[in-house]
Amino acid sequence: MSKAEGQSIVAIFEYLATKDIRLPVFDRTALQVQQELTKQEPDQRVIENLIVCDQTLTSQVLKVANSSFYKGLSEITTVRNAIVRLGLKEVANIVTLVSHRQQFKATDPKAHKLMNALWRHSVACGIGAKWLAAKGSLDIQPNEAFFAGLLHDVGKLFIITVIERLKKSRQIEQMPSGAVIDEVIDKLHCKHGYVLMKNWNLPEQYCQIVRDHHADDFDSENYLLAVVRLANQTCNKVGLGLHRDESMVLSATREADLLGISDVMLAKLEIHLEDAGVLAE
Ligand SMILES: [Fe+2]
Ligand SMILES: [Fe+2]
Repeated sequence: MSKAEGQSIVAIFEYLATKDIRLPVFDRTALQVQQELTKQEPDQRVIENLIVCDQTLTSQVLKVANSSFYKGLSEITTVRNAIVRLGLKEVANIVTLVSHRQQFKATDPKAHKLMNALWRHSVACGIGAKWLAAKGSLDIQPNEAFFAGLLHDVGKLFIITVIERLKKSRQIEQMPSGAVIDEVIDKLHCKHGYVLMKNWNLPEQYCQIVRDHHADDFDSENYLLAVVRLANQTCNKVGLGLHRDESMVLSATREADLLGISDVMLAKLEIHLEDAGVLAE
């Protein structure tokens, strides 16, 4: 590692250790929608109103609801129509998807490229976790799995945002090398992601997944965590991650064993993940 790289890594660690950084933010409407969903009897009208109050959000939700991912027979033209056809929880996930997308933006070319790869990975992981939850025999809510998968690497988003900000404010001279960024991400993305999720007031079950999705020792009864971990590993194996890991034998993982996911299902999951491109546009 060069001297400049060493200095930039020190600057990044110092910044992360000392500053109270609140950005990126979690979209207010998406949070309100999620909060309504945690109620025993979520009110469809409340969620519908939250969406239709925002014209841009409404058009983005309808665009996704009509995408080939949902393969509808006729066009969905209103939010109410989307809720009837796809269900309240699915529409809530679309709200999270389209609003969360806004955070994955950067002006620096290297950060921009990383953000795009991270966005694809996050969407693919959400889709994979949802698929595993729906296909497995365990009682895991597919919509919760999507949400957890989409957000599991939020610490990476945070770290890339911080690095770009340090570069913009000239606290580091240039964007660090890929090796430096990888090192910071590997060491810190779970920890800072957890803090960020807590700051956003998201339910504890999702915060824990952000914290524990790479932990060697994890709660073997937390099946939601296991589906996210398995989806994450599958994404990395098929090249839908920041780094490809083709050598991974998914069927030999503890997660596949815990969830009772067979080789055949894992092969199907890999194919299913190809659809991630549609939602990650
Ligand atoms: Fe991760
Ligand atoms: Fe990941």
